[in-house]
Amino acid sequence: MLMLIDDADLRNIEELYSKYPYDGVTTNPTILSKTGNPDPMDQLKQIRSLIPSDAMLHAQVLSVETEDMVREAKYMVSVLGKDTFIKVPVTENGLKAISILSSENIRVTATAIYGTMSAFLAAKAGAEFLAPYVNRLDNLGYNGVQTALDIHMMVKAAGYKAEVLGASFKNAQQVIDMGKGGIGAVTVSSDLLKSLAFNGIAENAVKDFIRDFESCCGEGKTML
Ligand code: E4P
Repeated sequence: MLMLIDDADLRNIEELYSKYPYDGVTTNPTILSKTGNPDPMDQLKQIRSLIPSDAMLHAQVLSVETEDMVREAKYMVSVLGKDTFIKVPVTENGLKAISILSSENIRVTATAIYGTMSAFLAAKAGAEFLAPYVNRLDNLGYNGVQTALDIHMMVKAAGYKAEVLGASFKNAQQVIDMGKGGIGAVTVSSDLLKSLAFNGIAENAVKDFIRDFESCCGEGKTML
């Protein structure tokens, strides 16, 4: 399962990349707005140059009309590189934009997915990633994890190339459920990413080992 950082803060991205094996960065307009940089393309260019060249970058269009989405996506790719995944919300206009962009070999991540059928149509239109909003679905009274798993099963059964990119998580269990279900990718906020595997318990165990060892062998003693 690919793991991406859902953040646009350069320090967070740099810190996580220096410590952990991640596969790329996803952003959305809200996430970009939190950086305070009034020039979002400048922020995206800085992210692009900060992460490894083979790491994925996903960035979202703001336009709502099909033609405008297509024009915006082409501009973003021209600035950020042809392997940039352009996030297109799956509205009716967005679905059409996904078809056009995919037919012109622009890589698309279908986003703002709140249902199985809209995701399936986006896969059929050529999107490479499908981003269901797991926690937002839970908040609406639906089952976000199950929706993501249903999309995964339906798309795989149909033989489409698209992978689910699980998004909008608020706890580790939701992410673990993605992995258990064979989901292709997840994007997780920096704070949640840091707490997924490391919660301080291992560090406490290490402290106990050191205390016991030093009581016998002397302060600062290691195997050296
Ligand atoms: C990713 O594609 C989404 O933009 C993001 O994960 C949404 O997360 P949120 O529900 O925490 O805003």
